[in-house]
Amino acid sequence: MYRKAAILSSLLASAYAQQAGTEEAETHPKMTWQDCSAGGSCTTKNGEVVLDSNWRWVHEIGGYTNCYTGNAWDEAICSDNESCAQNCAIDGADYSGTYGVTASGNELNLKFVTEGPEATNVGSRLYMMASPDKYEMYKLLNREFTFDVDVSSLGCGLNGALYFVSMPEDGGLGTNGNQAGAEYGTGYCDSQCPRDLKFIDGLANFEGWNSAEGDENAGVGGRGACCAELDVWEANAISSAFTPHPCDTPGLTVCEGEDCGGTYSETRYAGTCDPDGCDFNPYRQGDPDFYGEGKTVDTTKKMTVVTQFLTDDGTDSGTLNEIRRFYVQDGQVIPNSESKIAEIPGDSLTQEFCDAQKQVFGDENTFEQHGGWKNMSDAMAEGMVLVMSLWDDRHSQMLWLDSTYPVDAPASQLGAGRGECATDSGAPDDVRVEQAGASVTFGNIKYGPIGSTFDAPA
Ligand SMILES: *[C@@H]1O[C@H](CO)[C@@H](O)[C@H](O)[C@H]1NC(C)=O
Ligand SMILES: *[C@@H]1O[C@H](CO)[C@@H](O)[C@H](O)[C@H]1NC(C)=O
Repeated sequence: MYRKAAILSSLLASAYAQQAGTEEAETHPKMTWQDCSAGGSCTTKNGEVVLDSNWRWVHEIGGYTNCYTGNAWDEAICSDNESCAQNCAIDGADYSGTYGVTASGNELNLKFVTEGPEATNVGSRLYMMASPDKYEMYKLLNREFTFDVDVSSLGCGLNGALYFVSMPEDGGLGTNGNQAGAEYGTGYCDSQCPRDLKFIDGLANFEGWNSAEGDENAGVGGRGACCAELDVWEANAISSAFTPHPCDTPGLTVCEGEDCGGTYSETRYAGTCDPDGCDFNPYRQGDPDFYGEGKTVDTTKKMTVVTQFLTDDGTDSGTLNEIRRFYVQDGQVIPNSESKIAEIPGDSLTQEFCDAQKQVFGDENTFEQHGGWKNMSDAMAEGMVLVMSLWDDRHSQMLWLDSTYPVDAPASQLGAGRGECATDSGAPDDVRVEQAGASVTFGNIKYGPIGSTFDAPA
């Protein structure tokens, strides 16, 4: 039914459009999760996940000619943002064969490098869906979110991430003629205002697109897609962090060029979002023995990660004022690490913690500049999309997560040491060879009122 409509409109070609192709059927991998209620009883939800549109084959409508190959648009098909969106379709995905994505029961496994029939795929990004064409919108205020993760094969430079972003529920279906929508994983945005997206808001990111130096698969375009981001889990076997990133406007906001700020711009702090966030990484807080191989939270084994989003008045309509973390491993509940830096006390993120951290580490307080807890709450109140991804980092080699960063700072400088990885580790050219076999597994997702998803300590 839907496909028919898409073909029809492409024949009419009456509007600018990001079209959906029909060469490969789009079949979302199925994955269950648990919706829990106070008292701890949980209902199984039959969820499904969708691959982000950026990973997909982009080809000429009604044909097989690539619109985009490697890291460049075909200028015979595209002459501007509109014509490119009008003439090109993104297609269905062979999840396991091409992208190394498999789901089974309550688990999702993402492989880092997959040698497919056509090309080599690196990493992936998937979204949880409520129906075949709508993202699940999680409302996290005064809630708890719990999942199991196996990071044991993720070495220096890799990041198996679970986080939330304020993407549109329908992926922007209909905007500027976007015919693909959430069913094809459109509408991504985050607090780095990414400019590596081939389509934004239904239009191609063709104008101003520069192929990324040193990456045969990526580019940076003239526009970026900003929205609030709540990083519950950014981790490998060496380091982990959780980090809220508010924006001036919670939902998708298109930015232009260097005004975007964030990772993809020379002007990191020029945008409307907080690219740094307020983070809790136990190693960075002076506790090198808490998280890692054979440590208190042992990354050689699967673990359960619990995150609580507490509000100031203990209700769903309150303002977020604390993010608390627990781990469960081998049946034992492990409270989060206590910061060992005397001037930044605490084992959770709070206003006091974030203020002290920015001051003591000498970091610009972009968290506060973009509305802090209040604006993060505004985003959470509207509902956010669950993202699970595996990625490497062409911009800073993931050193901000697992090494010393800035690299020229002495590791003893407060805030600079983030993990045990060498400052020359994590380059994509290296990790794509040395860690080609790596993968991350997320599973057993539970969501519900505080205390409903695990046996909390009394
Ligand atoms: C197309 O892209 C350019 C460069 O990013 C931008 O300035 C222009 O506004 C875009 N056109 C539309 C219609 O969005
Ligand atoms: C926070 O949100 C408000 C309301 O949406 C907005 O007006 C403001 O610009 C945002 N940013 C800051 C820094 O307060």
